[in-house]
Amino acid sequence: MDSLTSESISEPKTIFLKNYSVPEYLVDTVILDFDLTETKTTVRSELKIRKNPASESNSSNLELNGQNLKLIAITLEAINEPSSLVKTLTESDYLLENESLVISDVPEFFILIITTEINPKENLALEGLYLSSNMFCTQCEAQGFRRISYFPDRPDVMALFTVTIHADKQHYPILLSNGNKTDSGDEGKNRHWVTWQDPFPKPCYLFALVAGNLYCQQDVFTTASGQNVDLYLYVEHENKHKCEHALMCLKQSMTWDEETFGREYDLNNFMIVAVNDFNMGAMENKGLNIFNSSCVLASPETSTDADYYRIQGIIGHEYFHNWSGNRVTCRDWFQLSLKEGFTVFRDQQFSSDMNSAAVQRIDDVNILRNAQFSQDAGPMAHPVRPQEYIEISNFYTVTVYNKGAEVVRMIHTLLGNKGFRKGSDSYFKRHDGQAVTVEDFVNAMESENNIDLSQFMNWYHQAGTPKIEFSESYDAQAKRYTLTLKQFCAATPGQETKKDFHIPIRVGLLNSNGETLSLDLSGEDSCSGEQECVLELKQNEQRFTFDNISEKPVLSLLRGFSAPVKITTQRPRSEMAFLFANDPDDFNRWNAGQELALDIILSLIKEHQAGHDLKLDKEYVNAFRKTLNNSSLDNALKSQALGLPSESYIADQCHIADTDAIHDVRIFIRQQLAKNLEADLLTLYNSFTISGDYQFNAKDMGQRSIRNTCLSYLMELDNADYHKICVEQFKNSNNMTDVIAALSLLVNHDNEYRENCLASFYEQWQHDALVIDKWFAIQATSRLPATLERVKSLMNHSAFTIKNPNKVRALIGRFCLGNIAQFHNSDGSGYQFLAEQVLSLDKLNPQIAARLIQGFSQWRNYNDNRQQMMKQNLDKIISEDGLSKDVYEIVSKTLA
Ligand code: BES
Ligand code: ZN
Repeated sequence: MDSLTSESISEPKTIFLKNYSVPEYLVDTVILDFDLTETKTTVRSELKIRKNPASESNSSNLELNGQNLKLIAITLEAINEPSSLVKTLTESDYLLENESLVISDVPEFFILIITTEINPKENLALEGLYLSSNMFCTQCEAQGFRRISYFPDRPDVMALFTVTIHADKQHYPILLSNGNKTDSGDEGKNRHWVTWQDPFPKPCYLFALVAGNLYCQQDVFTTASGQNVDLYLYVEHENKHKCEHALMCLKQSMTWDEETFGREYDLNNFMIVAVNDFNMGAMENKGLNIFNSSCVLASPETSTDADYYRIQGIIGHEYFHNWSGNRVTCRDWFQLSLKEGFTVFRDQQFSSDMNSAAVQRIDDVNILRNAQFSQDAGPMAHPVRPQEYIEISNFYTVTVYNKGAEVVRMIHTLLGNKGFRKGSDSYFKRHDGQAVTVEDFVNAMESENNIDLSQFMNWYHQAGTPKIEFSESYDAQAKRYTLTLKQFCAATPGQETKKDFHIPIRVGLLNSNGETLSLDLSGEDSCSGEQECVLELKQNEQRFTFDNISEKPVLSLLRGFSAPVKITTQRPRSEMAFLFANDPDDFNRWNAGQELALDIILSLIKEHQAGHDLKLDKEYVNAFRKTLNNSSLDNALKSQALGLPSESYIADQCHIADTDAIHDVRIFIRQQLAKNLEADLLTLYNSFTISGDYQFNAKDMGQRSIRNTCLSYLMELDNADYHKICVEQFKNSNNMTDVIAALSLLVNHDNEYRENCLASFYEQWQHDALVIDKWFAIQATSRLPATLERVKSLMNHSAFTIKNPNKVRALIGRFCLGNIAQFHNSDGSGYQFLAEQVLSLDKLNPQIAARLIQGFSQWRNYNDNRQQMMKQNLDKIISEDGLSKDVYEIVSKTLA
C-alpha cells in the first residue's frame, strides 16, 4: 500500500465509454422493504440474481455499488442447488469498501438479502432517500440508488420491483412507489404499510418512493385505445389551489404523444408529487414523477406566464420519458442524450404545437446560443455523447440536452416528419424493454428511411460548434445564383482535429421586394419549384447552384436554425435590415434583427472603449420603430424582436469580454430607443388592458409580454411618470406576470418606491416559498450598484437557507450566473463570493456547488486582471481538502 501517493488517493478516477462491458450478473426481481423513520430507515432488499449469459467474464464475484450505507446483514440462498441453504454471510465472504460491496464466490442463480440502514434526515445532497419539508422522497438518477441499498447501480440492469413501505400513520398517511398498489394494512405503534408492484422491468435509477401528509388532486385520462388512467397530483395541503394547470398540461401531453408519436400510456395510474427540495427540475420515475415544486405548482396570483409555460414543457418532458427513457432506456450513462436529447426535442415540439412555434424556436435557440455555444468553446466542451467522465452528474449539460435535441431535430429535418415518425416507431418497437445506445436510435432512423447517417454520427462524437462561411455569386446572363458554403470546427479539449459534419441548411431566396423566389436547385439534393429547400453540407466546401433566378436574390440562410452552427460571414447592415423587415421565415426575421443589433453593439463597444461619444445608428432606430408599430405582427413575436441580445451572448462574441462596456452600451442603446420612440412605446403600452381573470393563452400572454417590454424601455428614461405607472401596475395587477415585471423594473432603477414595494411584496408573500424565490432573484439581478452587498445580507434573511437548492439558485445563482456586469466587478468581489459559496455548498450539496462554478468557466475570455482573479479563486477551490468529485472535475477541467 505504501506505493499510493496522496495524489492517487485524492484524484478521483475517470470512467471511459470504451471500457464498457455488459453486467456480469443480472437482477430479475427486487423486493424492497422500507421501515421509515427520519433519522434511521431500515432497508431490506431481496434480489433474485443470475449470471449474465452474455458476460464473458468467468469471475464469480458479485460487485454491488453502495454509498453512505450502514450494512446490517447479508444472507445468500443458492437456487437449484442440492444444498440450497440460506447462508448468513460473514466478513470473510465479502469485501466491503467505501463505495462497493464485493461478494465472493457466488453461485449461478441465487437470492441475496441485504439489510442496510440510512439516515434520510442527514442527507443534504438530495440524492437517494431524503427528507424535504416533512416528507420522504427519493432521487435516484443517475447514481442515487446506491445510497439506498447495495445494488448493481447501472441502467442496463433491469428488474421487476416490488416495494413495501412502513411508516407512521399520522405523519405519513400517503405512501407511494412505482406501479400499482397491491396491498396495505395497519401494524402496531400507529404505523401502517403499503405494497406497490411495478409490472415493467426498470433500471434502479427509475425507482421512487414518497411518504408524507399530502393533498391529492385527482383526474382521469382516457387513452386512444379506451383505457382509463387515474391521474394523481400530490402536493402539500397549503398548495391545493395550485394543481389545476399541471393536470391540464399532463392531459395535453398524453394526447399529444398519442397523436404525434403514437405513444400511449401503459399503467392504470400516473402520479406526480411536488417537493420543495430538489436538485433539478423534475424526474421521470416510472409512474411516479417527482417534481421540484417550482416546476409544477401554479396559480395566477403567484406564477408568471414564464412559470406556466415552463411547467407545461417540463410536465410534457417527464411524461414523454415514459417511452423515450423508461420503456426504452440507456445502456450506460454515456448514452444520456439518447433519452434527454430526444425527450427535449419531444418537449420542444409539444410546446411549439401548444403555443407559438416561432417564439418556442427563438427560446430554444437562445438557450443554445447563450449557454451551449460557450460551453462548446470552453474547457468543459464535450461531445453530445461524452467519451469520459469523473462524475456523471456533471454531464447533465446544455450540450447533452439542448445540442442533443438539435441533433435529433436535424435528423427530423433530413427525414421529414413522416420519415422521422417511421424511424421513431421502429425504434420503440425494436427496443421496447431494452437498454440501448445512440447507434440503435440512429440505425432505426436509417433503416426505415434508406439513408446513410454514418457521417451524421460526427454530431454525437465531436464537440465544438461548426462555423459556416458563405459566399454568393449571381450570373445575370445565365440567371444563375451560386451559393458556396464552407465549414470549419475549432479544436476542443482532447479533440485536436475534426471531421466534416453532415449539416442540413434550410434556405430561401427573396427578390428585392421581399417576395419569395421559387427554387430550382440542380445537382444531388435537387429541389424544384419549392419555396425553400434543405441543402446538405457534407464536404468541407460545397457549391449549390440555383437556376432561373431572374434577379440578384437576397439569401435567407439557416431558416428555423436548421443546424446548431455559427454563421461567420458578415453581411452588410442594409441586408440584415432588409431581412429583419421582410424574411417570411419568422425565426430568420427575428434573427436578422438580433444580428443587426449585435453588429451595432459590437461597434459601439469599440467606440466606448476608445472613449468616444456614442451615437445610435438612425437606420436601426427606424427599423425598430417599424417593428414596434407593425400591427400585423404577433405580440409575443414582436416582444422578442424588440429585445437586444443578452449580455452573456454579447460577451461570447468578444475576444476579451469587457463586461462593463457591454453593460453600458446595451443600456445606452435601450435609452436611445426609449428617447426616440417614447410616444410609440407609451401608446402601445396603453393599447392593451387585459380585463378579466388571468388566462394562460397565447393572446393574453402576447399582450402582457409586449406591454411589459414597452414599460421596460420607458423605465430607461428615469422619468417620475413612468415610475408611477410601474407602481400602479405593481399594485393593481391581478397576476404575477405583471406584478413581477413592474417590481423588477422598480428594483432595477433608482426611484423612491423600490424599497417600499419590495417590503410590501415580502409582507404579502412571505408564506409562499416560491414567490419569495422571485423576491430574492429580483434583488440578485438588480443592475443598481451594491447588489452584492444586498445579496450577502439577504443570505442572513430568515427566509433564506443554503440547504434549499431553489433558494441558492434564486439568490447566489442569479447573482453569479445572471448578473454578468456585477459578478465580474473588476474589484474581484463577485469572484471571491462565488468561491466562498462553492466551498461551503460543496460540503452540503456537491451537485449544486458544481453548477455554480460555471460562473468561472469562461475565465480565459476576460482581461488579465479578471483572469488572474478568477484563476486564484479556482486554485483556492482545487487546493481544498475533501472536495467532492463533482466540484473537483469541473474545477480541474476549467483550469486545464
Ligand atoms: N432525468 C432528468 C432529471 C435528472 C437529471 C435527475 C439529472 C437527476 C439528475 C429529467 O428528465 C430532466 O431532464 N429534467 C430537466 C427538465 C427538462 C424540462 C429538461 C431538469 O430537471 O432540469
Ligand atoms: Zn429528461
